[in-house]
Amino acid sequence: MCQPECMDDRTHVLDAVAVLGRGGLVAFPTETVYGLGADAADADAVARIFAVKGRPTGHPLIVHVAGTEDIARFAETVPASALRLTEALWPGPLTVVVRRADHVPPVVAGGKPTLAVRSPAHPVAQALLEAFGGGIAAPSANRFGRVSPTTAADVRADLGDDVDLVLDGGPCRVGVESTIVDCTGDQVVVLRPGGVPVEVLEGVLGEPVGRAGGPDSPAVPGSLASHYAPRAEVVLAATVEEAVAVAAAASGRRGLLLPRAVEVPQAVTLLVADEDPAAYARVLYARLREADQLGLDLLVAVPPAEHGLGVAVADRLRRAAHRHLT
Ligand code: TXA
Ligand code: MG
Repeated sequence: MCQPECMDDRTHVLDAVAVLGRGGLVAFPTETVYGLGADAADADAVARIFAVKGRPTGHPLIVHVAGTEDIARFAETVPASALRLTEALWPGPLTVVVRRADHVPPVVAGGKPTLAVRSPAHPVAQALLEAFGGGIAAPSANRFGRVSPTTAADVRADLGDDVDLVLDGGPCRVGVESTIVDCTGDQVVVLRPGGVPVEVLEGVLGEPVGRAGGPDSPAVPGSLASHYAPRAEVVLAATVEEAVAVAAAASGRRGLLLPRAVEVPQAVTLLVADEDPAAYARVLYARLREADQLGLDLLVAVPPAEHGLGVAVADRLRRAAHRHLT
């Protein structure tokens, strides 16, 4: 599992705690994607996250905590729905939005009265949070609008020396970001599909959850157009046959991202994901990065079936493609 350069031993976790303590930035693995962390109580350190990412200050961050018992430290009140969901699904790829406690610096929440909180399941993230003791504010460790990192090498390639320390916990197991749910209203509403399928949320709650509006919904800035995007123009196709035809008819450096391998024309590069939605999710961002490394001008993608993690994968592919669709 761990590579030789793996940094999930105690020494490096303690180094990371020291970096956070002096207002620095630490990239760390979670089961979804790598995060770019700062002490959530340190407004200046949090401001550095926005500067390094090039992220508009109105886009709120997620505060990472060790476990369910910590949510009460960051929420003004803990709604019953948030308690049920976190007791059942934390640590895990679920983020709950609650009303923000007064002591949390507003910069963390982009000035909003609410706060997103999550307890990640990765053992390195858990060790870091346990040792640090406080909340760690962290967005995905990529420049704003670009593909999220799923390895430590991705983080270094994207952020370079702008991050003080990178903890290496190997490739991320889930591969797409957490599911974000708003627990502040009467009904739980999914703001961003992610690592916990909606079916699972509904199973825990015993009632249907709502869905936030379409791709232009302002509810979650992460749902803005041209998010999660590689440099190549991304076009979505419904079927493998259609995708092959579109790529074959195009010019320039063309690639296909497909759930299964098929014969493709020689001029077209084939990137294969997986028929299984969870396996597709695990490799999605690596494939989008490959498209960039290959210098592709065009990537024609076929999403997986839209159940389970397939909903999150299709969502990310739509956002990657959005700026190019009319
Ligand atoms: O899996 C994940 O969630 C990863 C790992 C590192 O934990 N984090 C992540 O963070 O994806 P980021 O910053 O890339 O995306 C967080 C999303 C943003 O779209 C943001 O707008 C939304 O969470 N968000 C944060 N606070 C919110 C709030 N109070 N209300 C609504 N949306 C919020
Ligand atoms: Mg992000």
